Amino acid sequence: MLNIGVLVSGRGSNLESILDSIESGAIKGARVSVVVSNDPDARALRIARKHRIPAVAIQDKGGSREDYDMRINAALERNGVVAGKGLVLLAGYMKVLSKRFVELHLGRLMNIHPSLLPSFPGLKAQEQALSYGAKVAGCTVHFVVPEVDAGPIIAQTAVQVKEDDNEETLSARILRQEHRLYPHAVRLFAEGRLSVEGRRVRVSS
Ligand code: GAR
Repeated sequence: MLNIGVLVSGRGSNLESILDSIESGAIKGARVSVVVSNDPDARALRIARKHRIPAVAIQDKGGSREDYDMRINAALERNGVVAGKGLVLLAGYMKVLSKRFVELHLGRLMNIHPSLLPSFPGLKAQEQALSYGAKVAGCTVHFVVPEVDAGPIIAQTAVQVKEDDNEETLSARILRQEHRLYPHAVRLFAEGRLSVEGRRVRVSS
C-alpha cells in the first residue's frame, strides 16, 4: 500500500478529487494517510476530517524554512509517509519548500500548477496567462525540484482561453481539468509506471 501525504493551504478541491478517485477505486493500492496544512483554518483540513483522515495544522512560528519543513516531515512520518517509500503531494500548498525537504522526497514529491509550465510559474498563474495574452492555458503536474515550478513534467492538459474570459472564468475552466489530471498522475505513480530520465518523465504502458 502506498501511503500518501498531502500538503495543502486552502480550499482543498484537488485533495478532494484525489480522495474521490481513491474511494471510487480509480486509484488502487494507495491511501491518503495524512493531510498537513500551514493554515489551521484551511477548508482542506475539514475535507480530510470528513473522510476520516488525520488532519494536521502546523503553524509557521518564524523559524527557518528547513526547521518548519522538518516539523512537516515528522507529521508525515508519524502517519506512515516515510521518505523514499511514500508519496507527498502538494495540492494548493502555497509555501516554498526547503531544499532539504525536496531532496528527502525527490522523485516522490509532486505538485499541480495552474499553467502550462514552463510558462507562468509562481503566483497567480491564470492571471499571468490572461494578461500576457496567451490563447491557450492549462495545468501541469510535475515532480518537485528545489527550483519553484521547474521539475520534470508528468502530465499536462491545455484549455482554450476564451474571448470573454476573466481570471475567475479561466481559473474555473483550468480547475475542472486539474481535478482529472492530478488523480491521473497519482494513478500512474501508484501503478509504478513513471520513471525520470533527466528532464523527461517516461510513462510505461
Ligand atoms: C489550484 O488551482 C492549484 O493548481 C493552485 O492552487 C489551487 C488550489 O486549489 N496551485 C498553485 O498555484 C501552486 N503554485 P485547491 O486548494 O482547491 O486544490
